[in-house]
Amino acid sequence: MGVLISGSGTNLQAIIDRIADGSLNAEIVLVVSSRPSAAGLKRAADAGIQTLALSKDIYADPWDADEVIATELKRAGAEYIVMAGYMRKVHEPLLALWPDRVVNIHPALLPSFQGAHGIQDAYERGVKVTGVTVHFANAVYDQGPIIAQESVRVEEGMTLDELEAAIHAVEHQLYPHVVKLLVEGRVHVNDDRTVSIS
Ligand code: GRF
Repeated sequence: MGVLISGSGTNLQAIIDRIADGSLNAEIVLVVSSRPSAAGLKRAADAGIQTLALSKDIYADPWDADEVIATELKRAGAEYIVMAGYMRKVHEPLLALWPDRVVNIHPALLPSFQGAHGIQDAYERGVKVTGVTVHFANAVYDQGPIIAQESVRVEEGMTLDELEAAIHAVEHQLYPHVVKLLVEGRVHVNDDRTVSIS
């Protein structure tokens, strides 16, 4: 698989760790970062994974950027694309090459609290339950078929920092689990674009 990141890469790390401990039988062939300064690049390098850091300039035309990324991921032999805190959209050049094989993680229960601030938006709205969603990416952000969701309770008096920590803890369990289902061929998109797990 190829992993797309932009930031700290803790979800990338969770996947690396599951591969290292033998509970996830998969290989990360390339990590692509939309930011050269992303801390996740060091995590990849430390694990001996090939990396590609893209500069901001390449995103002047996002379709061109996706063509570059797709070419490199194909060259590396990626069969699945895992978006892990990737703060850019993916477009047709990439999606068309990996149909229903590009996944994303979102720190809220979609379709609620879409966008870049899912945790804070849910917290400020005062919801009592939020959570984590893993879904297929499609051209419309945060709206691809939902693969898995897990809830997180917003406890009385919880701070935003505490909620963030609780969400990330769930992400780090859920994402490697879903990636495992995916690479085992157990995730099926139905004709109505819902998802079944076998
Ligand atoms: C995660 O909360 C993920 O849900 C969101 O961005 C964050 C990435 O964190 N899309 P990290 O880079 O994996 O640490």
